[in-house]
Amino acid sequence: MTDYLNRIGAGKIIRDHAPLTFDYIPDELVGRDAELTKLGEIFTGIEDGRVSCRAVITGQVGSGKTVLSHCFSKDLQRHFAGTRDIRPVHVNCRNHPSKTQVLQRLITALDSGHPERGLGSGEIMQSLRRQLHGNKEHLLLVLDEVDHLLRSDKGDLLYQLLRIDEGLEQAGTLSLIIISQTQVLDLLEPAIISRFGTSNHVHLEVYAAEQLEAIARQRAEAACIEGTVPDGVLRTIGQRAAEIGDARLAIELLEDSAKKAERSGRGEIIPDDVRIVAREVGQTVEPNVVENLTLHAQLSLLSLCRRLRKEDEVTTGDAEKLYHVVCEEYEVEPRSHTTFWKHLKTLEQQQLIESRTANQTSGRGRTQHLSMPAALPGTLEKRVEGAIERSVRKARL
Ligand SMILES: Nc1ncnc2c1ncn2[C@@H]1O[C@H](COP(=O)(O)OP(=O)(O)OP(=O)(O)O)[C@@H](O)[C@H]1O
Ligand SMILES: [Mg+2]
Repeated sequence: MTDYLNRIGAGKIIRDHAPLTFDYIPDELVGRDAELTKLGEIFTGIEDGRVSCRAVITGQVGSGKTVLSHCFSKDLQRHFAGTRDIRPVHVNCRNHPSKTQVLQRLITALDSGHPERGLGSGEIMQSLRRQLHGNKEHLLLVLDEVDHLLRSDKGDLLYQLLRIDEGLEQAGTLSLIIISQTQVLDLLEPAIISRFGTSNHVHLEVYAAEQLEAIARQRAEAACIEGTVPDGVLRTIGQRAAEIGDARLAIELLEDSAKKAERSGRGEIIPDDVRIVAREVGQTVEPNVVENLTLHAQLSLLSLCRRLRKEDEVTTGDAEKLYHVVCEEYEVEPRSHTTFWKHLKTLEQQQLIESRTANQTSGRGRTQHLSMPAALPGTLEKRVEGAIERSVRKARL
């Protein structure tokens, strides 16, 4: 019955929620001028119709790889409009992890009338060549989280894309940017490494406190009512987020402290709001807590994060279904019901989750509800995904 209190103060600080979401792309990138300049240098000559470029972007979780590639391709397109028609297409290989899926995504982005399914990768490649060679657009393909593709494809598609002009009276059809959290260069075929060239590598260093403060300031200006987020608050956000250097954490701290202040009926955030929110995060986002879990405990945790990002509780039944989906995604055999339960208990002992038992409103029995009061599921999710990647890779070696 106290739910109505949650609405106290709503709207006193946050004017627009969109800039606080992770997919929001700001007009300007904060504090990455040197990296943008380096990309610009790599793309020197792109205005010439016969030139293609290629670049590799690496960096840890939340270092701004994805947003850098979006801002760069937008800038490039805008700057050369009138000289060269550049068409950026961004494909996230986490969602499209096979060669055929990437090609399908690519061809439908270029030609919305193209049949979605039913064609093999060879046919799509043919059709892609025809289409690209037939028009004047230069394709700038960004393959984000490319390690997912490399795992299944070993670089075959990259190799084909890089050779798209070979044997034809063509040049400069396609430029390629690949992005990965880990050092993908080592995983690639040597032939591709030489084609990408080590000088085309842009590595993003982890953000320091001032940069994270500036990122939080940019979001606060876009999302919050003027005068509701004082400098001291932004400084505190920068300092706390610098403990892991993830820009997502800075944005999440801003949103959560704004909501916390609104719930207390205030029209201004105070540094204590940030401290309280950050202290709760600090306990659990310790990287080694996640790293030290077994693979299946990590998979269970990931399924919980995904749901709890949107809702405040999940039932154990739903959690188990989500766990199966996550196992399928990583191509590992799910453990039995009993083992899954044990993993939930482990997560509870580590204070990553809490559970409460409630009488079911319909049907018999009691249902367990799981929640994550001491962590920010969105930030934790990325961390767990990174840890799972490493565990899965190790297990396959
Ligand atoms: N320099 C920046 N200026 C403004 N916003 C930024 C900057 N860097 C990161 N962000 C924001 O922080 C969030 C995380 O950045 P992004 O998604 O680009 O990280 P990433 O390196 O791709 O992470 P992951 O490895 O998890 O894919 C996004 O909402 C992004 O817009
Ligand atoms: Mg990314």
